[in-house]
Amino acid sequence: MKVLITGGLGYIGSHTVVELSNNGFECIIIDNLSNSSIDVLGEIEKLCKKKIEFWSTDLRNKDELAQIFDTHKFHAVVHFAGLKSPGESVLEPLKYFDQNLGTTINLLKEMQRKNVKKLVFSSSATVYGDLTWPPVHEGAPTSILNPYGRTKLMIEEMLQDLSKSDSEWCIAILRYFNPIGAHPSGTIGEKPNGVPNNLMPYITQVASGEREHLNILGDDYSTHDGTGVRDYIHVMDLANGHLKALNYLNNHLGNHLFNLGTGRGYSVLDLVKTFEEVNSIKIPYQVMKRRPGDIAVSFADSSKAEKELGWKAERGLREMCKDSWRWEKNSSK
Ligand code: NAD
Ligand code: UFG
Repeated sequence: MKVLITGGLGYIGSHTVVELSNNGFECIIIDNLSNSSIDVLGEIEKLCKKKIEFWSTDLRNKDELAQIFDTHKFHAVVHFAGLKSPGESVLEPLKYFDQNLGTTINLLKEMQRKNVKKLVFSSSATVYGDLTWPPVHEGAPTSILNPYGRTKLMIEEMLQDLSKSDSEWCIAILRYFNPIGAHPSGTIGEKPNGVPNNLMPYITQVASGEREHLNILGDDYSTHDGTGVRDYIHVMDLANGHLKALNYLNNHLGNHLFNLGTGRGYSVLDLVKTFEEVNSIKIPYQVMKRRPGDIAVSFADSSKAEKELGWKAERGLREMCKDSWRWEKNSSK
């Protein structure tokens, strides 16, 4: 079955292409390389042991998108492409509306034109904002902390309207918690441009000597050690969630929301200590003031995904830390 993967050379997309391809799907990738490298394609092909068709296309380019949909009859689309920095979105909201909303509308129009009505969409735990004390389930109220989160929630709402307007649509909206880790081969992983915004890539760059120390952004939260608590999920488990979601859409019409997390929260200091222990490396750190917009605690109730998709995260924090470090060592050689 042919599946179109937008943003398939990015961090989560690349792992998902490997997972889907190794489970019998034929993946065709679109990526504009704005936050990824063409080298990732070769690494994916090695892990899949086959050639993968790649289109270096921007989803804003409607003509090229139409050409891709005219070339292939897709069974489904997995839509990762988009911008993902909450901080940047506060400074440049129009860029986020254009790139996240505009591109998704183009994609949905093409899908409708060619009668491709199965979609897996990358949403985020950010849509829960700061209203609910965790574990958060899919029925929890949503709230918006920044334009990035607004684009995710607006797309979710667009998808709900779409499936109300036409009952043939089968849509899985996956709300990811905090993906970290890398493929165990160490050949694909997360490669942020410039100074990392997220905790794990910052830690691995301190470990490699690229950065002097980690800044811990607040130690005065009401958590067990004062630092922020998150639900870190191995990217390989996340990739498997997309396989399960695609299979689910084969016999479920309508719009379906799923949290993908482990259900366990770890603090910044828990993560630092585990990383130090499993990799035998010291991570020097300084405590700084809180980052605006950060919440104290976030972790998932993923029981719906377990019950309905038959999906459960299997990898623990130690494995996440080992795999992240293996990838950093390989990629910074
Ligand atoms: P990523 O930046 O590594 O991957 C996104 C890919 O999309 C990149 O390869 C980029 O080049 C491509 N892309 C961006 N705009 C495009 C466009 N207009 N046309 C074609 N390609 C385009 O990001 P990721 O971490 O793999 O995230 C994938 C999705 O998951 C995103 O939608 C993100 O918002 C969402 N998400 C990520 C996280 C996270 O912490 N990584 C958490 C929750 C949700
Ligand atoms: N943190 C630090 N130092 C850093 C970076 C982060 O102490 O250099 C702390 C943060 O304060 C927070 C925790 O580490 O307590 C995790 O921060 P991340 O930036 O790694 O992750 P967030 O939970 O803030 O946000 C990420 C993505 C969002 C996404 C969300 C949920 O950046 O886009 O996960 O999926 F919405």
